[in-house]
Amino acid sequence: MADKEGIKVEKNYYVDKPFKVDGNFHVKGASNLDWGMKKHLTNIFSPKSGNTVMFAFDHGYFMGSVSGLERLDILIPQLIDHVDVLMATRGALRSCVTPNFRKGIALRVSSGSSMLNDDLSHELVSVDIEDSIRMNADCLAVQTFIGADGQLSSIGNLSKVINAGNKFSIPTLGVIAVGKNMERTSQYFKLATRIVAELGAHIIKTYYCDDFDEVVAACPVPIVVAGGKKLSEKEALTMAYKSIQGGARGLDMGRNIFQSYHPAAMADAIGKIVHNKFTDNEAWEFFCEKTKK
Ligand code: 5RP
Repeated sequence: MADKEGIKVEKNYYVDKPFKVDGNFHVKGASNLDWGMKKHLTNIFSPKSGNTVMFAFDHGYFMGSVSGLERLDILIPQLIDHVDVLMATRGALRSCVTPNFRKGIALRVSSGSSMLNDDLSHELVSVDIEDSIRMNADCLAVQTFIGADGQLSSIGNLSKVINAGNKFSIPTLGVIAVGKNMERTSQYFKLATRIVAELGAHIIKTYYCDDFDEVVAACPVPIVVAGGKKLSEKEALTMAYKSIQGGARGLDMGRNIFQSYHPAAMADAIGKIVHNKFTDNEAWEFFCEKTKK
């Protein structure tokens, strides 16, 4: 077993050097994948900008009815034209979203916890690969708890989903969960994102942190940033801007969109940062212009 303490070489992330692998595909780390994988990844990441706006509304899988998500049948039609991907459970998609849209699907396939648990880190794979194929999923989202009590089972779940997805060319999205005893530091996110990428996840969802460019540089697949708890719109746009500046290939945002008083305008403003190189100030002005009465 490798010695945990014996590595003395100073770390160099070469943050100024772009990721390089032979091949010309627009998604990081995906040049050597097969046609089907690349097609699904193209349904998520724009070939033009290389980036994505994912709208996460899978919170109900452990939080039940969250503020802002009470009526998916009313919310989703307002937002669907303003985002690239819907991240959701199969229950929400089948019951509340008519499949007459041309957007990517990130299907939540792990579950097992609820807000009533003290430790949320024990999950299982709750959607099999056959049903994911029936849902036309473009990627399979698995919660991964590195360093938490449920680490072993969560790595087991992730591996099971990656193995099944690889058989049918469906990418896996590893969602880095931050347990209550963990800190949102670059040290933690470098460890967790790299482990999940090395296990074979094709996309990683994590949080923005200091030295985020090093987290991105050390991760060989695209990182999309979670929104986290509700911030002011201006703060959320700044976080999105810093994430893209730091090398994220998109946002996978929930509460900062659906808990805004103007969810569609917020999604559009995020899209301007993600796809159109807007700064946070430009996106804020855009948001104010769109929402002024
Ligand atoms: C839960 C998830 C959620 O989809 C996501 O984190 C929620 O998005 P937000 O934090 O932006 O509300 O992955 O683990």
